Amino acid sequence: MTITVFGLGFVGLTTSLGFAEYGHTVYGVEINDERLATIKGGQLPFLEPGLDEALVRHLGKRFLPIGINDLAEAVKQSDCVYYCVGTPYGKDGQADLTYLFSAIDQTLSVRPADKYQVLVVKSTIPPSTTSQKIIPYLEGKGLNVGQDLGVANNPEFLREGHCWDDFIKADRIVLGVSDERSAEVLRKVYATVQEPIHCVSLNTGEFIKYLSNTLLATLISYSNEMSLVADTIGGIDVAAAFRILHEDKRWGGATMASYVYPGCGYGGYCLPKDTNALYAVSNTAGFDAQILKNVISINDQMPAQIAKKVSRVVGTDKQRSIGILGLSFKPGSDDVRDTPSAKIIRELRLLGYTNITGYDPVAEKEFERYYSDLAIGYANSYDELIRQADVLVITTAWPEFANVKQLTQKPVVDCRYML
Ligand SMILES: NC(=O)c1ccc[n+]([C@@H]2O[C@H](COP(=O)([O-])OP(=O)(O)OC[C@H]3O[C@@H](n4cnc5c(N)ncnc54)[C@H](O)[C@@H]3O)[C@@H](O)[C@H]2O)c1
Repeated sequence: MTITVFGLGFVGLTTSLGFAEYGHTVYGVEINDERLATIKGGQLPFLEPGLDEALVRHLGKRFLPIGINDLAEAVKQSDCVYYCVGTPYGKDGQADLTYLFSAIDQTLSVRPADKYQVLVVKSTIPPSTTSQKIIPYLEGKGLNVGQDLGVANNPEFLREGHCWDDFIKADRIVLGVSDERSAEVLRKVYATVQEPIHCVSLNTGEFIKYLSNTLLATLISYSNEMSLVADTIGGIDVAAAFRILHEDKRWGGATMASYVYPGCGYGGYCLPKDTNALYAVSNTAGFDAQILKNVISINDQMPAQIAKKVSRVVGTDKQRSIGILGLSFKPGSDDVRDTPSAKIIRELRLLGYTNITGYDPVAEKEFERYYSDLAIGYANSYDELIRQADVLVITTAWPEFANVKQLTQKPVVDCRYML
C-alpha cells in the first residue's frame, strides 16, 4: 500500500517508519523546514531510542520525507492519508483543531476525485470530533463520506521514550470507522500485525484514547493528593507508603503501578491537554465531570505546593542558589512541553528566588529554547550543579540522580520520591 502521513513529530515519524517496516511505501509530509531537513539528513529531531535505526533502514527506500510542494504526487498515489499533526490546548481547554483542518484542506486541494481514499486521524481528537466536525465539514464541500472517500480514526497509544517499541509491539490497534469499505482499507494497513485489532464506532475510537489518558492523569493526581494529605498530617514516609502499596498482589507487578506514585504533577504534551479537552467536551455536552475537574485542579496546584516545600528548605535568603535536577517532563525524553520543572521554577521566581540553575542530561537546549523567559542558569554537568547549588531539587526522575546523597551533604528536596 501507499500511505501519506501528515506531520513528522513523535507520532507521525514513528507511524511513518512503522508503516514502512510493515512493507508499505510512506510519504511523510512536514511543514517545519528545519525538522524536514534534519529527517532527510538521516537524523532524529528529538531523542527516541530505536527510531534512529528505523530511520536509517527506511529513509529514501520505503520512507520518503517531503514538503508540502510535493504533496500532490504523494496523495495521488496513496490508499489512505494519515493525520499526525498536533492538537494542542485551545480556548477553554478545548482541543485546538487548526492544524488538523489545515492538513485536511491541503489534502482536499490535491486529492484525485476518482479514487476512494480513507482520511485517518491518528492525532488525539475528542470524542464526537469526526462525526460532528470532520464529516459535516467534508459534506459541506460536496463530498459524500462513505462513497467519495472514507473517514476514520486510529488513535495512538505510544509513550515518548518508547515510541518505536510501543508502535511495533502495540498492545492493541483501535480503528474508529463508520463504513465497512474504510475498515477494509485499514485492516490492510495492519495486515501483518498479530495484536488484536478492534473496529469500533468513530466516537468509541476517539473515546478509548481519552479513557486511557484521563485514567493515567487520575492515578497521578490521586497519588499527588495523597502525598499532600500525608505531608499535612506529618510523620509519614510518603515514598515508603507508596512502595508498600505497590506490593499488593493485585497490581501484579504491572507497569501501571508507576502512575500510582506521587511526583510533581503530570506534564508533557498529552495528559494535561487531553484531560482538559475531555472535561471541556463533556461540559459543553451538558455534564460537569467532577473527578476530571478535580484531577485537573490538583495537578494545577502541584507546582505551587512544591515551590512552598522547596522554600521551607531554602529559607528566607532569596539569593541562595537552587539547583534544579531535571528539566524534561520525564526521564528518557528531551520533551519539555508542559514540563513540571518550568512551572516549579516559575513559582520559585514568584516567591522571590532569583539564583536558579538547571541541569538535565539531554533537555537543556530544548528547555532554554522553550522557556527563555525564565532566564535561569544552566550547568554543564551533574557534578557542576552539585558543586554550585546550596539546595538541590529533583524534578525529573533520571536514574542517575539516585546517588545524589552519596555525592553531597547539601539538602536535597526529592520531589520524585526516588531516593
Ligand atoms: N507525543 C505523544 O506521546 C503522543 C502519544 C499519542 C498521541 N499523541 C497525539 O498525536 C498528535 C501528534 O503529537 P506529537 O507529539 O507527534 O506532535 P508534534 O508536535 O511532535 O508533531 C506534530 C508535527 O506536525 C507538523 N505539522 C503541523 N501541521 C502540519 C501540516 N499541515 N502538514 C505537515 N506537517 C504538519 C508539525 O510541524 C510537527 O512537526 C497529537 O494529537 C497528540 O496528542 C501524542
